[in-house]
Amino acid sequence: MRITETADLWYKNAVVYCIDLETYLDSDGDGIGDLHGLTQRIDYLAEIGVNCIWLMPFYPSPRRDNGYDISDFYGVDSRYGNHGDFVELVRLAHDRGIRVIVDLVINHTSDQHPWFRKSRTSAQNPYRDYYVWRSEDPGDTSDQTMFPDSEDGIWTYDEKTGEWYLHHFLHTQPDLNTANPAVRDEIAKIMGFWLQVGVDGFRVDAVPFAINQTTFEGRDEHDLDEPHDYLRALRAFLQRRSSGHGSAIMLGEVNLPHEEQMTFFGGEDGDQLTMQFDFFTNQRLFLGLARQQAAPLADALASRPQNLSLETQYANFLRNHDELTLDLLTEQEREEVLDAFAPEEEHRFAGRGIRRRLPGMFGGDPRRLRMAYSLLFALPGTPVLFYGEEIGMGENLDVPGREAVRTPMQWADAKNGGFSTAKPSQLARAVAEGSYAPEHINAAEARRDQDSLLHHVIRLAKRYRESPEIGWGAFEVVEQEHEQVMAHRVTWEDRSMVLLHNLRSEPVTVSFELQDEEVGAELVDLLDEASCVLDSDHTAEVQMGGYGYRWLRIRRAGDPRLV
Ligand code: NOJ
Repeated sequence: MRITETADLWYKNAVVYCIDLETYLDSDGDGIGDLHGLTQRIDYLAEIGVNCIWLMPFYPSPRRDNGYDISDFYGVDSRYGNHGDFVELVRLAHDRGIRVIVDLVINHTSDQHPWFRKSRTSAQNPYRDYYVWRSEDPGDTSDQTMFPDSEDGIWTYDEKTGEWYLHHFLHTQPDLNTANPAVRDEIAKIMGFWLQVGVDGFRVDAVPFAINQTTFEGRDEHDLDEPHDYLRALRAFLQRRSSGHGSAIMLGEVNLPHEEQMTFFGGEDGDQLTMQFDFFTNQRLFLGLARQQAAPLADALASRPQNLSLETQYANFLRNHDELTLDLLTEQEREEVLDAFAPEEEHRFAGRGIRRRLPGMFGGDPRRLRMAYSLLFALPGTPVLFYGEEIGMGENLDVPGREAVRTPMQWADAKNGGFSTAKPSQLARAVAEGSYAPEHINAAEARRDQDSLLHHVIRLAKRYRESPEIGWGAFEVVEQEHEQVMAHRVTWEDRSMVLLHNLRSEPVTVSFELQDEEVGAELVDLLDEASCVLDSDHTAEVQMGGYGYRWLRIRRAGDPRLV
């Protein structure tokens, strides 16, 4: 049976919002955000039009990697609350039509996890094979670590048993041996547990690392099958366990070019990851923004595989909780983006990425920011926001590393930005300062101001949700003569839209032809009052301001639909 026959494809035009509980809202004054705090803000999220929350790791953890180093997959870190608070959150979110997905980390655990503690006691321990050990010196692996600033390589020597264990991330995050059937069973049980608690799916961390561990030298006794069979098995399990309450998803982190991502969707069968972040398009988008030319973005979108199955979907994003990764660009392209948006050394992370939020990268230009968010919601796929983006939060470069973009949510022009009543020294992380401090950027003021970025995002989310063409439709580039204008069209069944974005600060007049549409068809602007009509050459002419954006729904003669 194909997956579509059983699945609800709600995620195909969802608005996803990523939350780090630690820095969202502290309800008990201890300086740390918590589940109850987030529950109090569900209506704020509903007002934005968010209908899926992605909760970053909230499990017990020594927090060497912001909670991605988990010591108990079934628990709730007591600083955030307990399972009861978790269920309250999910219940209220569901009541408001908001689904909840949670991070699922299958590549590694914390070194404090009981499995690893046991695994390192002796080479004969039954948990030894939960991780990946080798007895031969791995030599220099410094070019393979994900954290070159803090790790020398991907293997660490363990004194007690005289062997090395694998860790693609920190040495405090040993990689699980996902080729071991016992580990696979554990992971399925964890998924089953959270599904039973009520979650609607998972954001799956570091997928390529997690499924490929059977391939390195000297390790093949558990090489049961092709690694993608494992992903297929996880998806089948997810589908079975969630069939009673609408379908749950696996949104995978796969930072690879489109062609390789295709295998993680399960090719044309679409039987592996339900969604993937489109890292390739994200990086080409930033190259396009840096050059003020649409071609890198247009080409990236056009290069998405055409034969994806209906149940798969790309997730689009501008910024997330990590550095802006630029590793899929060439060295010269990466330099262009870094020069444009991270000119100072302190803006950069590990030489390869940017530890800034978008407003800082744009020098605070509100027009450019609005255009960028319009573009995010206009890209074929599902938009994902990182908390605080909707109000234009900036980074705090005094906070080291990637944490610079993970500062507390700014709710009001109040102590600690309304995030917490604790002393500033007790906060989980310092609040942003300077021009991005809460006195300038906060949700309370943004809610009252109809012209705020927040209201812009609310309008975009609303129009996106009522435009299935964007989430479901076929994409094509619309030919026109300005290199700085991204012009594309999305078409789904009998609906079609043309979306225009001017990547430069100067106004421009854009003409384009829609030969397949009838003369006289109206192009109704969904964000503005203006609309135009296709003239006798099937041509439309549209004025755009500097960093302008237009969402034009094609209304054919006699079409009675509301636009
Ligand atoms: C990807 C997460 O987004 C990142 O924050 C984390 O450090 C790594 N995976 C390791 O879990």
